Amino acid sequence: MAPKVLLTQILPPDSQKLIESAKDIELVYWDKTGAIPREKFLELAKGVDGILCMLTDKIDSELLDAAGPNLKVVSTMSVGYDHVDLSEFRKRSIPLGHTPGVLTDAVADITVLLVLAAARRIREGFRAVEKGEWIWSPTWMLGVQLTNKTIGIVGLGRIGSATALRLKPFIGNNGKIIYFGRVEKPIASSLGATKVEFDTLIRESDVICICCALNEETKEMFNYEVFKKMKSNVILVNTARGGIIRQDDLCRALSEGMLGSVGLDVVTPEPLNPNDPLLKFDKVTVVPHIGSGTLETRTMMANIAIENVLSGVRGETLPHAVEVNFDTK
Ligand code: GLV
Ligand code: GLV
Repeated sequence: MAPKVLLTQILPPDSQKLIESAKDIELVYWDKTGAIPREKFLELAKGVDGILCMLTDKIDSELLDAAGPNLKVVSTMSVGYDHVDLSEFRKRSIPLGHTPGVLTDAVADITVLLVLAAARRIREGFRAVEKGEWIWSPTWMLGVQLTNKTIGIVGLGRIGSATALRLKPFIGNNGKIIYFGRVEKPIASSLGATKVEFDTLIRESDVICICCALNEETKEMFNYEVFKKMKSNVILVNTARGGIIRQDDLCRALSEGMLGSVGLDVVTPEPLNPNDPLLKFDKVTVVPHIGSGTLETRTMMANIAIENVLSGVRGETLPHAVEVNFDTK
């Protein structure tokens, strides 16, 4: 019997054709737009050999139990895997595939877009135009100039360094790039970026870009105590994961007049309720987790996710596996 693969959403057209043309598998997929409902996911996962999932699909012991003993691989069409309970993969020795590298440019682009949008008050500008509140005055809608500013990057990985590279020309020769991360990054010297303590980064940066993965160390790393130490006109941008910011604290800080402006591609929860308090602040710009959302990038991500799931069900090593450190006991 051909191995069964569950795909939790329809892929970009070329990738969908690619997976449908794999003759040695039986493909089952959820054909509606938007995340597969949990009940449906548990039901369709039953007995499958491989799962190609999205970052909106929680992969935990309940789901893995529902799939059962045939399951040989889970392949997520995302670089991040905070929606996956890795300890279960460790226990069960199931490989997990993800899609690193191919979304770096797209996410770095949207990070820069949010920095500029926040610095130049684009959301307020759009609103003023739409509401007929457009005036011209030497002091109206003044934003922040990036020239000579200090950019702080949290997580100088692929996305963080691509972001630094893009922002460098905006700050000019007298601007500064600093970063915080667990380890010294060799790429830093070519970017002219200096490693600093987290506390230094939040105190000295004019612009802070969150570009790190969400994990136990980074969860709610940005909270009220941290916001208090930031410059009063800081630009804060998060294109990584919503959970890195304690969002209630962010709303509190904003309501107390702290922070300059904020740009977010990721929030908690996703999708955000349109009545969420976060959206009441004019200086917050939220976009709907579209960092990797270009046809080119999503196609590359989907193709890698396909390679991963097909390799897994064929019993081959995944080309792009997350390091799981299987229990060897
Ligand atoms: C996007 O957020 C991803 O992790 O791929
Ligand atoms: C994620 O892909 C990163 O390394 O920044």
